[in-house]
Amino acid sequence: MRGIQIKEYVKGPQDLVVSDLPDPTPAKDQYLIAIHASATNFFDLLQIRGKYQHQPPLPWVSGSEFAGVVLRTPSANSNPKFKVGDKVFGASQGGYATKVAAKEEGLRPVPRGWSFFEAAGLFVTAPTSYGALVTRAGVKEGDVVLVHAAAGGVGLAAVQIAKAFGATVIATAGTKHKLDVAKSFGADHGINYNDKDWPQQVKKLTPNGRGVDIVYDPVGLIDLSTKCIRWNGRLLVIGFAAGNIEKLALNKVLLKNISIVGLHWGAYTINEPEMIGPVWDGIFKLIDEGKFRGTVFTDKEFVGLESVGEALQSLGSRGTWGKVVVKVPQGNESKL
Ligand SMILES: NC(=O)c1ccc[n+]([C@@H]2O[C@H](COP(=O)([O-])OP(=O)(O)OC[C@H]3O[C@@H](n4cnc5c(N)ncnc54)[C@H](OP(=O)(O)O)[C@@H]3O)[C@@H](O)[C@H]2O)c1
Repeated sequence: MRGIQIKEYVKGPQDLVVSDLPDPTPAKDQYLIAIHASATNFFDLLQIRGKYQHQPPLPWVSGSEFAGVVLRTPSANSNPKFKVGDKVFGASQGGYATKVAAKEEGLRPVPRGWSFFEAAGLFVTAPTSYGALVTRAGVKEGDVVLVHAAAGGVGLAAVQIAKAFGATVIATAGTKHKLDVAKSFGADHGINYNDKDWPQQVKKLTPNGRGVDIVYDPVGLIDLSTKCIRWNGRLLVIGFAAGNIEKLALNKVLLKNISIVGLHWGAYTINEPEMIGPVWDGIFKLIDEGKFRGTVFTDKEFVGLESVGEALQSLGSRGTWGKVVVKVPQGNESKL
């Protein structure tokens, strides 16, 4: 196969090199997949530099999220969920390659009518936003939901899910272009959070200035968001894209009767695996109903593993929206 192997940590994505490598050897519980599209994540940038919480022993193949075709089913599984030739998407170490080994729980079927390109970026963002808004915050018709960094990967998923449940969505982002993207995915209002008075602008958009019911925050804006949340509101802590882990004066939580709710999707596998199925069922239902579509960044095209470095550089520069996905052309790799 071809892939981006890390033999020693690199300074940045510009140093990534594609080479011919041996095919992965799947463990007994792993499928072998031919990759047709790979999605980028911020943690890939950390991992190639040796700065991520999960660092495999060198050498290893970089990348994680992908979509492709099953080449071989697990040798220890007599009743595999997927068969040879099935189209799947998922996550497993080694996503920047033409082949990858992956466990069944790390795979889902490519939704009907979706391309590999669209499906590659679905595995992390959709369940994070569904788990947060639906499972944790109980979003419902009539709610007003504030989605921060609404044009980002998890943000665009959150906009669509909140809309699908009948909420009014107020999107924030750092540029007009990104706010336009959020609106094209259903956001009702857009506010640039570089404006100092954005919490006041948000409040003004809610009925009688009461504030929003739910805040979805992947950035680190919980403290400021307490200014525009309503009585009994829920603040969802999703991430810290701005790089700062906030501290909060708890009198703000008491005064407005609010709840601060965390969501760590990746840890459901360990702590609450029984919730994973229902969350995906909910997402596939929204997809079937035409209420959730792929969020691939389309301003620029990235084709071939050679363009992974450039794709990661674009992601790291904050110039992209949605999921930055690289098309991975297959030579004879889809065949055994
Ligand atoms: N809790 C979970 O289970 C879970 C799961 C997945 C991801 N996450 C976390 O959620 C966050 C967002 O993930 P994502 O995949 O949506 O990332 P992403 O696609 O890169 O989007 C991040 C967004 O954050 C905004 N942002 C604000 N300040 C920023 C800064 N200083 N540097 C870079 N971006 C900044 C950017 O929008 P503007 O340019 O418009 O400001 C950008 O679009 C990350 O922290 C990630 O670790 C958490």
